[in-house]
Amino acid sequence: MNSTIETMQSHRSIRKYKDKAISDEMLETILTSAQGAATSSFVQAYTIIRVDDQQNRQAIAKISGGQQWILDAPVFLIFIADLNRLDAACRKHGKEMADGYMEQFIVATVDTALVAQNTLLAAESMGLGGVFIGSIRNNPEKICDMLEIPENAYPVFGMCLGYPDDLPPLKPRFPLEAIFKKDIYRIDGDEAVLNAYDETTHEYYLSRDSNLKDETWRLQMAGFMSQIVRPHMKAFIESKGFCIR
Ligand SMILES: Cc1cc2nc3c(=O)[nH]c(=O)nc-3n(C[C@H](O)[C@H](O)[C@H](O)COP(=O)(O)O)c2cc1C
Repeated sequence: MNSTIETMQSHRSIRKYKDKAISDEMLETILTSAQGAATSSFVQAYTIIRVDDQQNRQAIAKISGGQQWILDAPVFLIFIADLNRLDAACRKHGKEMADGYMEQFIVATVDTALVAQNTLLAAESMGLGGVFIGSIRNNPEKICDMLEIPENAYPVFGMCLGYPDDLPPLKPRFPLEAIFKKDIYRIDGDEAVLNAYDETTHEYYLSRDSNLKDETWRLQMAGFMSQIVRPHMKAFIESKGFCIR
């Protein structure tokens, strides 16, 4: 164990915050550290917007189905996958960006996720907590209008950050053998492991202080994954100029 491993193994999403501001200096340290994330071919294909405007926060919370923590968090960030700096680099040097390709969408989205996870980890290492907010994609067009996000860029998710006012129990992850394999892909022998994991998650859901559920992980996922979620995303992503080739 070292302090990095301890921080990583203590992660839980935090949705209740103390009424205490995060200093600009602290946020700068967090984001500068997050920028140390690896980035595909050095493209650094992301932009991060801090949303302080209360009207915009209200609108984002509404889009997100009324998640109170979006209003309460001292800092709320939107992480945008963004090819515009790369487009400008091409134009500066008399070239045209070969845009619209699925591969660039993957590259920009992965880069954005890496810098975002680093942001949360850096924040946690400084005693803060936070939570990703994927539900901004309930209405990504409205987010783009609100924040003036142009083509060749799209909001991937938001993130709340603040001083934790809650310490929820850790959510148990899969036993390592479920996700870590040797030499070839093989998940068909995992029934016993997943049965045990179902029991672990069932106990976890029954023992929480809030939002108790009589569910196992597989039951929850069967419900979730059999629903159509955000079917507008394909058309939206294409409208922003991604994935048209
Ligand atoms: C991309 C992404 C989007 C998420 N969106 C939301 C969200 O909109 N609202 C929320 O409360 N939690 C959101 N979460 C948090 C997950 O629900 C949480 O990470 C997961 O249940 C595991 O719990 P833990 O983070 O406490 O370990 C999101 C997480 C990720 C990675």
